[in-house]
Amino acid sequence: MIGIVLAGGNGTRLYPINSYLSKQLIPIYDKPLIYYPLSILMLSGIKEILIVCKNNQKNNYYNLLGDGSKFGIKLTYVIQNEPKGLPDAFIVCEKYIKNKRVCMILGDNIFYGSDFVSKQIIKNFNSKKCTIFAKSVFEPQRYGVIVKDKKNNIVDVIEKPLSDISNLAITGLYLFDDNVSELSKKLTPSKRGELEIVDLIKNYLENDNLNLEILGRGVAWFDSGTFQAYMEASNFVKAIEERHRVKIACLEEIALNKELISIDHLKSTIQNLASSEYKDYLNNIVKNY
Ligand code: DAU
Repeated sequence: MIGIVLAGGNGTRLYPINSYLSKQLIPIYDKPLIYYPLSILMLSGIKEILIVCKNNQKNNYYNLLGDGSKFGIKLTYVIQNEPKGLPDAFIVCEKYIKNKRVCMILGDNIFYGSDFVSKQIIKNFNSKKCTIFAKSVFEPQRYGVIVKDKKNNIVDVIEKPLSDISNLAITGLYLFDDNVSELSKKLTPSKRGELEIVDLIKNYLENDNLNLEILGRGVAWFDSGTFQAYMEASNFVKAIEERHRVKIACLEEIALNKELISIDHLKSTIQNLASSEYKDYLNNIVKNY
């Protein structure tokens, strides 16, 4: 399976920061936003990951993450200069996807909770299908939603519904089979000029090939599009990290636990770091290893 972190877009709601920095590089408490979706892919055992970003941000991403070897993974940067829609990622990444299954996560989505990692849904995904993850939310109008009938069958998926038709939001984590690039190329842009992820999902729904995983109470989900959302997610991360003295989405720690890097590899990473709280945290991991 190959992973995609979709980290392009214009982030217009974040002006003036978006004029020089990609929104997925803005910190959520003590680390850049992109660390959180990346951590989900790593925890799910995905080692080959494509970062889709704008050309003018590629250096920033590279300075932060490099080729991934620091974390025992392989990162490749794929350029998407115009936000043509979520399925466009499968078109710009086509030559890397080839006959692989794909796990795409939106670069502004944060998940916390062991539920879907421990259930190994991503690791075990092995079919000619699509799996989406949903969570009930307070403001469904901000998301894509799943509409069910009285027998609990999915009957539709709608992007940003105007009415309260469903409170089950589609989160920014998707599993697709190796047909996804072909299907994406057949989509036509919506009225807002984008290829829509719900249109892609509908293809699978119509062919009875859609799986739905509902994320329960044990999973917290944030998507960060506004300064208020950054603040809320930051406060959440701060509370968990201070209370339990663990870091959420510490990529070096995940890499060590998943045996993607050795303890010596981690020690040499630490040697190159200037003094910081993050370095102290990594040093503590080494001490207790
Ligand atoms: O967060 C979950 C929601 O994400 C889903 O419920 C919706 O169905 C889905 O369409 C999406 O809605 P958003 O309004 O949040 O999408 P947005 O345009 O903000 O894009 C999400 C992320 O993907 C954001 O980090 C920017 C990036 N992006 C977006 C587009 C359209 C790209 O990198 N390239 C693109 O072409």
